[in-house]
Amino acid sequence: MEEIIIIGAGAAGLCAAWELAKNHVHSVLVSDMPSERVQSNMAEGGINAAFLSNTDSPELHAEETLRAGRYLADAQAVHDLAENAPNIIEQLFSAGMSFSLNSDGKPDVRAFGGQSVKRTFYVASNTGKQLMHTLIDQVRRYECTGLVRRMTGYLFLRLLRKEEQVCGCVFVHANTGKEITFHGKVIVASGGLNGMFGNATGSVRNTGAVSASLFADGVAFANGEFIQYHPTTVPMHGKHLLITEAVRGEGGRLFALQDGKPSYFMEEKYPELGNLMPRDVIAREEWMLLQQGKQIWLDMRHLDKNIQQTKLRGVLNDCSQFLSLDPTKKPIPVVPGIHYFMGGIWVDRQHRTTMRGLYASGECACQYHGANRLGGNSLLGAIYGGTIAAQSAMADSFKIPQVEDTHISKSVHAGKDGCYVDGILNLRHVLQHSLGIVREERTLQAALAELQNLQEQMTYDASASVYENQMLQNCNLLGQALLMSADARKESRGAHNRSDFPEENSDYQKQTVARFDGKVINITFESAGETNAH
Ligand code: FUM
Repeated sequence: MEEIIIIGAGAAGLCAAWELAKNHVHSVLVSDMPSERVQSNMAEGGINAAFLSNTDSPELHAEETLRAGRYLADAQAVHDLAENAPNIIEQLFSAGMSFSLNSDGKPDVRAFGGQSVKRTFYVASNTGKQLMHTLIDQVRRYECTGLVRRMTGYLFLRLLRKEEQVCGCVFVHANTGKEITFHGKVIVASGGLNGMFGNATGSVRNTGAVSASLFADGVAFANGEFIQYHPTTVPMHGKHLLITEAVRGEGGRLFALQDGKPSYFMEEKYPELGNLMPRDVIAREEWMLLQQGKQIWLDMRHLDKNIQQTKLRGVLNDCSQFLSLDPTKKPIPVVPGIHYFMGGIWVDRQHRTTMRGLYASGECACQYHGANRLGGNSLLGAIYGGTIAAQSAMADSFKIPQVEDTHISKSVHAGKDGCYVDGILNLRHVLQHSLGIVREERTLQAALAELQNLQEQMTYDASASVYENQMLQNCNLLGQALLMSADARKESRGAHNRSDFPEENSDYQKQTVARFDGKVINITFESAGETNAH
């Protein structure tokens, strides 16, 4: 019996399992955390979809997605995504997802950044939770029939390969340390790289370990330099609290004080979209104000009471619970914070990676968002990408050879005992400080030298697990690839701003593709959608 292995139980992983099960194909969904606790539950804003109308169309959705991503994404893939979005909303609605409704009893839409029309379907400010309830319910039906198996508490250790053919993978149980091997094609849906940076809006349980391990094993990684800083976050105990873009979608205003009076800097400089400009543009404007020592405020005091209490209820709750602040009475002090990784494992339009039998979808994959993502496109990309990855895994008819796991875990270096926790904290420190909103050659190269040095000095921490030691080594390597990609891109585009190359340069309208050949990391520039990453 063929069984497809899915790594990660968030929206992309569940959609892959759902699609496989609908087609009577077995899958095993392996994850560290149960679906109920993964990052996808934290998504607040919504899901974009353009139904044909006088003012909107999938073509316009695609064009606005490509424009916000500064034309780095594969145009055909983005068109496919936008074309399929209305279908996805209808499917979720009929699967029981409780969208916020308009006065006609139909799913409502709200305004979101970088879009000229309202096309973001939502559930108050907890769209992710409602989406996950729906997907979990659907997948449970198939669990009962045995088509889906769920394995929770397992961490990815390594791929099983026969040369460039993926034959399965090995996991280790987080508590018992027992290893388990599965044979079959593999779909990766393991989320972003929050744990390599810390201080993000998302969970650091999304460690980046799976992506890093695959990269170290030779799988290509693309556009690593593009990191989205969300314009409205509040630093809080080593992470950033997200204040959803929906606040600005409903009319919330950003301001900073100028001579003691509020200056609505986005509305003044960008009268057309104002507070709803794409996130990279707002984050850059905020960065400039922060450099001048200014505080940025998000004001929702003037919004209709009913909107505050219904559509933005979650924001009121979060502000009260975590900041002891009532945003109906006081503006919220905000800063830009790490929110999303546009780069990821290189995939083609069918979500195949550069290794046969290995597919990737969701935030861990590089597809759809180019140099900057539109709010409302991440859940959409995860749902669609998970479905397409499953279809590709079903369509690829090659047989998976049975190979044994002959791997012998090697210690990093003998020598004095290292410290895994210090290693992760050092990595985060270096990456956060060099890959901020604005970068430059000097700091990128200094950071790269620091990571190389840390890698050379790395010794085995006997008090940490084999998994943790290996993760630190791999994440350091992937961190080096991100820095090299940022250094190689000698222009400013989307979320990548270079103070030494402040203009966008059409010579760089290509994806950066990083590959590790076992000894060195190589960075090349390749057209989106082209497969010379193999
Ligand atoms: O601001 C937000 O609610 C975030 C949404 C998104 O990243 O898609």
